[in-house]
Amino acid sequence: MALTGEQIINAHRAIGVIDSGVGGLTVVHEINRRLPRERIIYFGDTARMPYGPRSYEEVRRFTFEMIEFLRHQEIKLLVIACNSATAAGLSYYQAACEQPVLGVIEPGVRAALAKSESGRIGVIGTVGTINSSEYEKALRKKNGSLHIACKACPLFVLLVENNLVDTPEAKKVAHEYLDPLVKEQIDSLILGCTHYPMMENLIQKVVGPSVNLINSAEQIALEVEAILTSSGMSNPLDSDKLRCRFFVSGSPDTFEEVGAKLLQREIKAYQVKLT
Ligand code: DGL
Repeated sequence: MALTGEQIINAHRAIGVIDSGVGGLTVVHEINRRLPRERIIYFGDTARMPYGPRSYEEVRRFTFEMIEFLRHQEIKLLVIACNSATAAGLSYYQAACEQPVLGVIEPGVRAALAKSESGRIGVIGTVGTINSSEYEKALRKKNGSLHIACKACPLFVLLVENNLVDTPEAKKVAHEYLDPLVKEQIDSLILGCTHYPMMENLIQKVVGPSVNLINSAEQIALEVEAILTSSGMSNPLDSDKLRCRFFVSGSPDTFEEVGAKLLQREIKAYQVKLT
C-alpha cells in the first residue's frame, strides 16, 4: 500500500510521554506492547519529583518545561503520564499544544467504569491529585449515581522510591490508608498515581481479591492507538526493535536501574537541565 506524504512524516515522529519520575514507564511499557512500531521520547523530571505535594501552579510550570523540551523533538502526540500533572491542568496543556494531549485521569475512569459492577469505586493518589477532585468529577460526569471513596496516600510514593514495599511498615501504612476504603465496600480501586502499580501486590493483599485494581496504563495505550489510527498518524514502518529515548532532569543512574526492571530491558537515559 502506498504511503501518503503525511504518513511518512508522522512515521518519523515520536509519541512524547512525560512524568515527574520513573513511574510513567508503566505507560511506555504498555505502548511498547501494543504499538511496537512507534518511537517514544520520555521525559522524567526526577530532579524535582515528587509533584504530589506541590502547588498546582508549580506543577503546571514544571510540566510546561518538559512539554517545551519535547515539542522541539517534533512529537505527534503527548501523554501526560503523571496523575498529579494531569490533575493540575490537563486543559492548559491541551490548549497550548497543537498535538493531541492525553492525560491519565479519563482513561483510568473509563477502565474503572468498565470493570465496576456495583458502582462503588475507590480512588487513591497523591495529595495534589485527590485534593483536585478531578477523578471524582470525571467519574460523576459519566455516572451521577456512583459511590466514590477517595484517599490520598502520600507515603506510598516514598515506600516505592526507597524500595520499602516489602516491609512490615509498608503493610501497616497500606492498611491505614486502605482499610477505610474496604469498609466502603468498593469493588474497584483506581491506582491514581504512577507509582502505585509498583506496589500492586501489597495493595491487592490489603484490599482483598474481590477488589479490581485499575491501572490506567493499558487503557492509555488503547487510546493512543485509537487516536493515531483515526487521525492517520500511526507509524506504518516495520521495525524489529523498540525505539525509545529517555531523558531525565536528575541523575540517570537510578532511573536506568528502576526503568530496566520495569521495562525488562537495559535502558540508557540522558540528563537534561530544564531551567
Ligand atoms: N507521578 C506522580 C503521580 O502520578 C507520582 C509521584 C509524584 O508525586 O511526583 O501523581
